[in-house]
Amino acid sequence: MAVKQLKLGLVGATGMVGSEFIKILQERQIPVSELRPFASEKSAGKSLHFRGQDYPLQTLKEGCFVGLDAVFFSAGGSISKIWAPKAVQEGAYAIDNSSTFRMHPEIDLIVPEVNGDLLEKRKEPALIANPNCSTIQLMLALAPLQKKFGLKSVRVATYQSVSGAGIEAVEELKSHTLAYLNNKEMEPRVFRENIGFNNLPLIGDLEDSGYSNEEEKMIHESRKILRQEDLKVSAFCVRTPTINGHSEAVWAEINKSIEKEEFLSALKGAPGVKVHDGRSDSYTSNRKCDGTDPVYIGRVHRDYYDQKTWLFWCVADNIRKGAALNGIQIAEMIFDINNK
Ligand SMILES: NC(=O)c1ccc[n+]([C@@H]2O[C@H](COP(=O)([O-])OP(=O)(O)OC[C@H]3O[C@@H](n4cnc5c(N)ncnc54)[C@H](OP(=O)(O)O)[C@@H]3O)[C@@H](O)[C@H]2O)c1
Repeated sequence: MAVKQLKLGLVGATGMVGSEFIKILQERQIPVSELRPFASEKSAGKSLHFRGQDYPLQTLKEGCFVGLDAVFFSAGGSISKIWAPKAVQEGAYAIDNSSTFRMHPEIDLIVPEVNGDLLEKRKEPALIANPNCSTIQLMLALAPLQKKFGLKSVRVATYQSVSGAGIEAVEELKSHTLAYLNNKEMEPRVFRENIGFNNLPLIGDLEDSGYSNEEEKMIHESRKILRQEDLKVSAFCVRTPTINGHSEAVWAEINKSIEKEEFLSALKGAPGVKVHDGRSDSYTSNRKCDGTDPVYIGRVHRDYYDQKTWLFWCVADNIRKGAALNGIQIAEMIFDINNK
């Protein structure tokens, strides 16, 4: 059977996530017969290079998605809110990276390796939500444990790089680091405080619950993706002065008392996961994961006081598996494109 050639739209094509989409479409040799890249007015007149061709950047307007099979949205929540439903009305699947629709009960929130089966019922264009970057990597680690042993509770502390806040945030980390080294102070623009050589223990806005909205996303999205409403999840999210790769220290309480070998073997064959076995001093750092696809799990050990609680370090490239790669894998499932 001939492989379907896809007609794709990419909203936010010049951004951190948008640029990674282009790279991954190329790497995975996704069959593309048409590409429509969209950005803001600021990028008017520029073009995007893909497979030897220059595609002019377009701005969003009524009818701009007609004829497309799927549109990836990574231009922020306010753009997705208006334009993602329009893409569906105009006949395309909308795969949305923002948080706008994630918790809507009728919208699927997909990590392909975990709950990709939900896409089988989608025979018509629909809006599909891509989860939060820190949630995605956690799901790849937790799903095999849930399947094999049952999960009771999860606690996670995150160490999130600045690339998670977009291109301007990366520039801010670089300039603020240089300024600090030169004994100068710069006004923060993206972050609430200077990010150079600093940890900021509040990502997004503070909610009435005392959690930040980033932490709330991890809590609620995890339960939805794992389809376990009684799962107790707690998160504490911290922005660190690192460029790319999100790291997480995880405490997972399972329903069984098992040996470490069993714990590791549940993770070893899991899709998208690379687990360090052997000694507990083995791990992947965020710099080592940069530019790669897997979710790495290391430093696995049992809790001192609770037989059924396991600690581990979980790291992934937040722009790839945490955003663009996950979105492309969703499209591969929808359009039945076999890939690695
Ligand atoms: N970074 C991550 O790790 C990550 C992970 C998961 C989800 N996300 C989500 O993905 C989205 C984008 O994040 P990012 O990190 O790629 O941000 P970014 O680097 O700041 O890029 C933003 C993109 O949106 C475009 N844009 C802005 N206003 C627009 C408009 N009116 N019409 C069309 N395009 C417009 C920008 O185009 P111009 O260049 O023309 O301004 C740019 O291409 C956000 O919703 C974010 O929450 C990010």
